[in-house]
Amino acid sequence: MRPSHALGRHLALAGFMGAGKSSLGREVAERLGRVFVDLDHEVESRAGRSIAELFDEQGEAAFRALEEQAAADTLRGAEPVVVALGGGAVLPESIRRQLARGAFTVVLDVEPEDAWHRTSGSDRPLARDEAAFQTLYRTRAPLYDEVADARADDLEELLLAAAGAHVEVGSVDDLGSLVPGDGAVALVADGHVSGIHGVRAQLALGGRDLEQHEIPAGEAAKTPAVLERLWTELRLGRDGTLVALGGGATTDVAGFAAATHMRGVPWVAVPTTLVGQVDAGIGGKTAIDLPGAKNAVGAFHWPARVVCDPGLLETLPDEQRANGLAEVVKTGLLAGAPVWERSEPEQVRFCASFKAGVCLADPHDRGTRNQLNLGHTFAHALEVAAGYTLPHGRAVALGLLAALRLSGLDEQVRVLQEVLAPEPVAVDPDTAWAALGRDKKAERGSPRLVLLDAPGKPRWGVELPEADVRRALEELIA
Ligand SMILES: NC(=O)c1ccc[n+]([C@@H]2O[C@H](COP(=O)([O-])OP(=O)(O)OC[C@H]3O[C@@H](n4cnc5c(N)ncnc54)[C@H](O)[C@@H]3O)[C@@H](O)[C@H]2O)c1
Ligand SMILES: [Zn+2]
Repeated sequence: MRPSHALGRHLALAGFMGAGKSSLGREVAERLGRVFVDLDHEVESRAGRSIAELFDEQGEAAFRALEEQAAADTLRGAEPVVVALGGGAVLPESIRRQLARGAFTVVLDVEPEDAWHRTSGSDRPLARDEAAFQTLYRTRAPLYDEVADARADDLEELLLAAAGAHVEVGSVDDLGSLVPGDGAVALVADGHVSGIHGVRAQLALGGRDLEQHEIPAGEAAKTPAVLERLWTELRLGRDGTLVALGGGATTDVAGFAAATHMRGVPWVAVPTTLVGQVDAGIGGKTAIDLPGAKNAVGAFHWPARVVCDPGLLETLPDEQRANGLAEVVKTGLLAGAPVWERSEPEQVRFCASFKAGVCLADPHDRGTRNQLNLGHTFAHALEVAAGYTLPHGRAVALGLLAALRLSGLDEQVRVLQEVLAPEPVAVDPDTAWAALGRDKKAERGSPRLVLLDAPGKPRWGVELPEADVRRALEELIA
């Protein structure tokens, strides 16, 4: 079966010359914190001369031999890298086999006319004659089709593809082809979501051996009892796939069931809330709650696919949408882009792609993923002090406000107040303060915060004078 994401595998970029493999490759490698190998440069450094010189002095065959060797060496490396393959690197069958074995290959699409405009006049030996160039384009297309695990045409799409995520209105109707393989499927949803969107999912999965499981709606699903019921009732073998259709609560518990049923089966997240599509469905964290301890038990279990269909959000109640918007604003601040000004499907695409990049860079939450807690240390403290009666979005809006104030970003404070209009909450300040000190990111009782040096420039693990943090917290309390 083809790989469905690049976690733990090389990310190989293939496609015709002029598709942007080198520039996108460099950018995506930086986002994923991976080494970038530009195969053409690798060949040049091995040959000690430029590709044009190599072609002119020794001919194409000599270049191809060096290219095949460099590609093979790169793909044999154990540490996953991003590699931009030269346009013809997929010609040898040995390389296509190695790609299938050790890489997730994304083909970057480019129209032949655009490719010609971008490359003619350069010193590329194969972009000197337009007719020959067009013929080459047509003869190579089937090879790209053969190696493509996914296709993309910009950085956002590339990050989504690398994470196995697919964002498209109407994509729920393609579930049949988006759920990898052709084995049995266990569909897990709450009764409400199943009533609204379940039939479309079932129809799309038609032809698969299908079992269905209903769980409670919302946080009530994230309990040991619900998990035990899933463990007992799941019939799925190891060649099957669990599909979680619903909000973050559903994907959290169903993902954990997938992580543990028969010691782990693949799963597909189909998030149906804005929170789910921009946050909970992406990144492979799954969990249930224990009494008084949210997300206390869980597993990292990367979904084989995430299918985000923004069309499913049409039925979402306003309060749920507001919860999602707070995460959208958080993402926009982390990325340094006013993404909240875009349409909802574009918000989903941007935020899912951003989170995909951060989580692929740090799948086990040991470093850069910390930034996703922006505003959340304060938010959790307020939620605890309010006995979890406070909507998460409202808590996050307040938490972001505190983080921006402590970051000294007055302009962003103003924008936040305009977009999310956070209202102070009536909770006991001492209870909230105690909860802040108990936060799992706290060391020795004083909280470690995520702040912004500027929009798009997060810094985590920041320790501030206690008095400043306490004042910022109290400003959130009515
Ligand atoms: N794993 C992660 O990385 C991660 C990240 C963020 C949040 N979470 C978790 O996600 C959970 C919150 O998820 P949520 O905000 O999606 O809410 P939710 O899963 O609790 O669902 C909220 C409600 O919305 C309803 N609903 C879902 N989709 C709908 C639709 N399309 N139309 C109408 N109603 C719909 C559900 O039936 C439910 O009643 C929390 O438990 C949180 O811990 C996990
Ligand atoms: Zn959140």
